[in-house]
Amino acid sequence: MNYYERMKEKFNKLKTKQEVIILSIESSCDETSVAVVKNGRVVLSNIIASQIEIHRRFGGVVPEVASRNHITAISNIFEEALQEANISKNDIDAVAVTYGAGLMGALLVGVNYAKGLAYALDVPLIAVSHVYGHISANYISHQDLKPPFVCLMVSGGHTALLRVDDYNKMKLLGTTVDDAVGEAFDKVARVLGLQYPGGPEIDKLAKEGHLTYKFTVSNALKNTFNFSFSGIKTEVVNLVHNKTQKGEEIDKANIAYSFQECITDELSNKAIKSCKNQEIRKLVVAGGVGANSRLKEKLLNLCTENNIEFFSPVLKYCTDNAAMIGSCAYYMLKDGLGLAQLDLTAKPNIDL
Ligand code: KG4
Ligand code: ZN
Repeated sequence: MNYYERMKEKFNKLKTKQEVIILSIESSCDETSVAVVKNGRVVLSNIIASQIEIHRRFGGVVPEVASRNHITAISNIFEEALQEANISKNDIDAVAVTYGAGLMGALLVGVNYAKGLAYALDVPLIAVSHVYGHISANYISHQDLKPPFVCLMVSGGHTALLRVDDYNKMKLLGTTVDDAVGEAFDKVARVLGLQYPGGPEIDKLAKEGHLTYKFTVSNALKNTFNFSFSGIKTEVVNLVHNKTQKGEEIDKANIAYSFQECITDELSNKAIKSCKNQEIRKLVVAGGVGANSRLKEKLLNLCTENNIEFFSPVLKYCTDNAAMIGSCAYYMLKDGLGLAQLDLTAKPNIDL
């Protein structure tokens, strides 16, 4: 029997195994992360080597630099993850890896390391979508959380509302028609001269600002669950350029506040509206922008007002990490999904 034939049998047996230990790998952007997750909910270790400092001087992630740093980091991070989880290689039941979406070269490092590892240990390889991984960050943060719920997915690459009927069954309710919300945060931060990544910087600076500017989001999408953020991004860029040309002072904190206020209104209002529309009284936020303090505050307030339960991942699981990939892989395995062959490759784009 070849590797894949053997793995089909092992994979099936794992579905009913009492204790499943998954070693997971994430390298889609600028974080190299390896985690050990038990039964999809218990994080035994989650090591993250962030490259933020390396990319900061370029004002954003440089793909080739990211790939090279993943290569340098991954073996040590793997050893560290085993050590912290206090397990040996032989305790690993399956290897999971983010195969997309993300930067091609960066993803390939994780995918190839995972393939080598799965083959060497003779355990199944599970291919996980980064976006669904972000949703699973909530399962490790809230032990009792189960679908169905509505998910507001807000990351650097995606913005969407999803109805999550089951762990592996979801329906897209709406998505962005142009930029992802994280992209808008990063671009606005850049024009304000803030450092990369821009989202946390705007979040921080906005705390010192007031509502001064009336930025807008597309009126044409008002009665839909879709989003558009390129218009507001351009509004901010034009405002800053005009002020610069006239030699006026750029009141960064007020611009950050006004921008964040408009964006978080749009996200939170549509999220609550979709819960009501779907008659689901549970809202979950996922992705890096889910770390935004104002967004969480608004979602929590609106959920309380409307008798909807609200869940967000603990901060360290909001942004990229391998633990969420291990959790997602466990629930895929339970449904018999995601078993990969050794010709698995990376996919920069994956549809929601
Ligand atoms: O989910 P994530 O780590 O990576 C992707 O899958 O894209 O999201 C990264 C995005 C970046 O655009 C970053 O600026 C944004 O999340 N972000 C935030 C905050 N923390 C991270 N945006 C707003 N407020 C934050 N506190
Ligand atoms: Zn992410």
